[in-house]
Amino acid sequence: MDPIKNPFSPGAGAPPPELVGRDPILEQARVLLGRVKQGRAEKSMLLTGLRGVGKTVLLNEIEHRARKAGVRTLQIEAYEGSALGPLLASHLRTLLFDLDRLAGAGDKVKRGLRVLRSFVGALKVTVGPVTFGLDIDPEKGSADSGDLQLDLADLFVVVGEAAEERKSAVALFIDEIQFFSRLELGALIIAMHKVQQRQLPLALLGAGLPILPALAGESKSYAERLFSFPDVGALSEMDAMRALRDPAAEAGVAFNLNALKEVYRLTKGYPYFIQEWGYIAWNAAARSPITLQDIERATRTVTERLDQNFFRVRFDRLAPSERKFLRAMAELGPGAQRAGAIAEVLGVEVTSLGPLRAKLIRKGMVYSPAHGELAFTVPLFDEFMRRAMPVFRRK
Ligand SMILES: Nc1ncnc2c1ncn2[C@@H]1O[C@H](COP(=O)(O)OP(=O)(O)OP(=O)(O)O)[C@@H](O)[C@H]1O
Ligand SMILES: [Mg+2]
Repeated sequence: MDPIKNPFSPGAGAPPPELVGRDPILEQARVLLGRVKQGRAEKSMLLTGLRGVGKTVLLNEIEHRARKAGVRTLQIEAYEGSALGPLLASHLRTLLFDLDRLAGAGDKVKRGLRVLRSFVGALKVTVGPVTFGLDIDPEKGSADSGDLQLDLADLFVVVGEAAEERKSAVALFIDEIQFFSRLELGALIIAMHKVQQRQLPLALLGAGLPILPALAGESKSYAERLFSFPDVGALSEMDAMRALRDPAAEAGVAFNLNALKEVYRLTKGYPYFIQEWGYIAWNAAARSPITLQDIERATRTVTERLDQNFFRVRFDRLAPSERKFLRAMAELGPGAQRAGAIAEVLGVEVTSLGPLRAKLIRKGMVYSPAHGELAFTVPLFDEFMRRAMPVFRRK
């Protein structure tokens, strides 16, 4: 069928034709933002889930709705090796200058700028293009200790106070939050704790791979009280079928029921895969309705495409020892695996796997859903590993 009219949108952060199955999370976000606007305490949100489940598109949709509701939004995306302080500083500067232009009495915004200036001055890393007006002096003694945990809290409080004074509310959106270090995550959590205690109109909405298991001690117990962690997961069979059927129907094209069921069976409801199958099947089908045979024909192409792109880019970043580790994990099948079982497959002592495990977590390939367990962050990666390395050899 006409590829120009193809409604499906496989791709990182590409908005789907229909955002199905996420109404409860959207509603939770609406309540959070509404309450924050009114200066009422509410848990901030961290959307967590595997690769390609739709965290970014959901976060973007919430940001869009927040802006429409009159909330001031900041959008940040972390990446491997990025530092929280500098990423935040330039966004907060823009925000404070915007607030400064609003009518309203008081000097909280000016103070915010002075404290931000102190914060930037105390950052150990250099901050690219964050320059300030010449008339802004740092405020000595605020956010300038050089300890991110203390300084970020000072900064968030003055930003919250500035927003409050201007009868505004601020929502900070952070994607790929797992790339921040434990120290940075701890600082964010403490800063949000201070903001909530004072009921300031500042909310944090994040998305990323599951981080809670990585946090330890105090940070963890704070995080559990301050944030809710909605799980962004695979779609149910009903929702998966809707994600294919509704956008196609809008373009006057139908799917046969057995075709829909087959896509669900193959994708296990993972949104990115659903978009891929929908996209390729649409182009492969000669006419409506799209049949089981069309899906079967598409499957070969989709598998090749996924292997060459989605999976391959991740595989290519791995050292041989890391590949071997993941291949051993794949030997055990999908789902979480005990470290002990992986060591057994590899024929080594479990204690020797620590460094490799840490590297793979840092690369975002695996995460630890529970103590002593590991799981792939990419859905169906175990199947890919078995295709990429058909024979597993210990040596
Ligand atoms: N609710 C949904 N219904 C149907 N398709 C969806 C849904 N959510 C996301 N998608 C599709 O899934 C794909 C992946 O979305 P997105 O990039 O937001 O995932 P992600 O969780 O941020 O992935 P990553 O962890 O790799 O950043 C996109 O092609 C998007 O169109
Ligand atoms: Mg994403």
